[in-house]
Amino acid sequence: MTIPTTLLSSGHPMPLLGLGTWPLDDHASARAVESAMGLGYRLVDTASRYENEVGVGQGLAASGVDRAELFITTKLRGADQGYDATRDALHASLDRLGLDYVDLYLIHWPLPRLDRYVESYRAMIDLAAEGLVRSIGVSNFREHHLDRLIAETSHVPAVNQIQLSPALARTDLRRYLTDRGITVEGWSPLGQEEGVLTEPVIQEIAAAHGRSPGQVVLRWHVQQGIVTIPKSASPERQRSNAEIFDFALTEDDMARIAGLDRGEDAARDSDEHEEF
Ligand SMILES: NC(=O)c1ccc[n+]([C@@H]2O[C@H](COP(=O)([O-])OP(=O)(O)OC[C@H]3O[C@@H](n4cnc5c(N)ncnc54)[C@H](OP(=O)(O)O)[C@@H]3O)[C@@H](O)[C@H]2O)c1
Repeated sequence: MTIPTTLLSSGHPMPLLGLGTWPLDDHASARAVESAMGLGYRLVDTASRYENEVGVGQGLAASGVDRAELFITTKLRGADQGYDATRDALHASLDRLGLDYVDLYLIHWPLPRLDRYVESYRAMIDLAAEGLVRSIGVSNFREHHLDRLIAETSHVPAVNQIQLSPALARTDLRRYLTDRGITVEGWSPLGQEEGVLTEPVIQEIAAAHGRSPGQVVLRWHVQQGIVTIPKSASPERQRSNAEIFDFALTEDDMARIAGLDRGEDAARDSDEHEEF
């Protein structure tokens, strides 16, 4: 199975679909990553905070896939924000992953109370110049965080990874990102917490296309150019989640799905949410 890519502003292609790895531990993530690689996945999303980078690295090594084919994302945890700490954190992540570079390094949360995301990002610009990171970006950033980051560093992040599903469609934030050439990547794409998969609209559209509700929801993401990273430890669901590039949702399907959006206020507040 070949998964299509989208071109990042950094000039590097990124697969439109990859494997999420939270909350898998080292053992489970090694198995899940090896299985996903066998199915044709090439993008893996991990984070220092998931404490599974060792397992992800083991799964990648066991798969035997060429490094050049892989697209590995990891993230800077809150506890490591700051210029020097960011540099040390990336080296520690590379050691755990067993890699010489990562394809994408993201600031996990802005944590505005710390006021260190700009200096953390400056360290990431330098790490990219040194070849230890191919592309750099952010996660859970809102418009005002990005306005400041771009103004103070003159650098536009390649990616913003945000909570996104038909129940949290975030159309205004997505328009802001697209206008600036920032690729949108969605976490919790299946909208499990919001019960998206059991929504009658999703189930009806799935039945009409002869697909599963999960495939309809993931198709909704990639059809809009959003990079999606569903997590599954099950090889069957990994396969089914990736089999979404051979059908299309109609305009009517998209309009009906748009009715599920609960609005921006339903998303986690990036000014308040703290995790380290
Ligand atoms: N940047 C951030 O702050 C942030 C926050 C949260 C998550 N993330 C990343 O985003 C990834 C995805 O988000 P997520 O794990 O929260 O949510 P998700 O991928 O939308 O949902 C994962 C859950 O859905 C199940 N599942 C997977 N495929 C399914 C299908 N086709 N039908 C029914 N159930 C299915 C999985 O169980 P099985 O394993 O049993 O299949 C798992 O319980 C994470 O793994 C992580 O890498 C990033």
